[in-house]
Amino acid sequence: MLATRLFVAPIGRQSYRIAPRAAGTLSLHNKRFFASQSDRVAKFDGVRDANGNYPVSLIEGDGIGPEISQAVKDIFAAAKAPITWEPVDVGPILKDGQTAIPDDAIASIKKNKIALKGPLATPIGKGHVSLNLTLRRTFNLFANLRPCRSVAGYKTPYDNVDTVLIRENTEGEYSGIEHVVVDGVVQSIKLITREASERVLRYAFQHAQAIGRKKVRVVHKATIMKMSDGLFLNVGREVAKDYPDIEFDAELLDNTCLKMVTDPIPYNDKVLVMPNLYGDILSDMCAGLIGGLGLTPSGNIGDECSIFEAVHGSAPDIAGKALANPTALLFSSLMMLRHMGLNEYADKIEKATFDTLSEGKALTGDLGGTAKTHEYTASIISKI
Ligand code: NAI
Repeated sequence: MLATRLFVAPIGRQSYRIAPRAAGTLSLHNKRFFASQSDRVAKFDGVRDANGNYPVSLIEGDGIGPEISQAVKDIFAAAKAPITWEPVDVGPILKDGQTAIPDDAIASIKKNKIALKGPLATPIGKGHVSLNLTLRRTFNLFANLRPCRSVAGYKTPYDNVDTVLIRENTEGEYSGIEHVVVDGVVQSIKLITREASERVLRYAFQHAQAIGRKKVRVVHKATIMKMSDGLFLNVGREVAKDYPDIEFDAELLDNTCLKMVTDPIPYNDKVLVMPNLYGDILSDMCAGLIGGLGLTPSGNIGDECSIFEAVHGSAPDIAGKALANPTALLFSSLMMLRHMGLNEYADKIEKATFDTLSEGKALTGDLGGTAKTHEYTASIISKI
């Protein structure tokens, strides 16, 4: 029996009023939030400056952040990518007792509609919540896009892995609605809404089209969470009707995990999309298939703006020693270029990077080499 009958949950800038018994009942909530299938979700509509460049907000971040950001800047300059970097400081401030992003940073990202972000150290014991979470909430970045592609020359248990996973980024188990029912009993609410589900699912179909994949698969546990995952799955089935060129199916999370670690290659032709927590766990599992978080890029996608970032942290143990591997941030910046429609620059830099990695002569320490960050960067630049 539910202890509470009506919840008001703050998520991003919106509040949802949820009647728990109706949450999975499609017939009661069959409103569509998108007028037609041609509605682009998270379309980039930044504006070029007087020099013909797109301004991009650059959050260099902490620890190794400035070193790996410099590598990306040098490589972009060599590739003549039409980007003007706009440095942004997101050093946390406390506003009304809550962690907030400085107004200048918010204004820059809103104006440019795009940002590249280095890792941010989470301050411990200063009353701040994670800045990463704050950024996600401030800009309502509703989808987390995590591609994982094998790097030739870097041996892992599987070759030719090429998975694409999209995680719903705003609700599910991360809604932060928890309370004590009675002493020793706590309740945590997994919130799933039709609106957020439709938005991320539509993005998944459109992303599949954009990258030339013909299959979208929902990963779920609707057998157990019949209402919440059931709603997500049913919205997927409905949205699929708008994309007849894309095959749609679904798979239980546990089955996906088992099959992926046994043989990930059958997933190379699909885009996987799933609720928040499943995406959090499964995306790290996919990163493990290609050698860990050090090489993994990501994009936090929103309608107002999108922020691209490496998945790893600020690596304080190697900061300032020129030992950092900039590949994950570089791959994130390539996702950013493609999001902006600048594919030719992304392709050129990506080829030079893969060639450097497979050649194996200028690898950083984490990949078993002895090259400094700038030596690895110079090798990529020499191949552009
Ligand atoms: P971490 O990812 O910073 O470091 C883990 C290990 O991986 C370390 O040995 C580090 O030297 C190595 N490593 C990470 N990135 C590397 C790179 N590019 N090249 C070579 N080696 C690399 O994780 P950790 O130590 O748990 O977190 C450190 C700080 O980063 C914390 O304050 C944490 O909150 C923050 N963090 C931030 C994230 C973000 O901004 N997205 C994500 C994860 C952690």
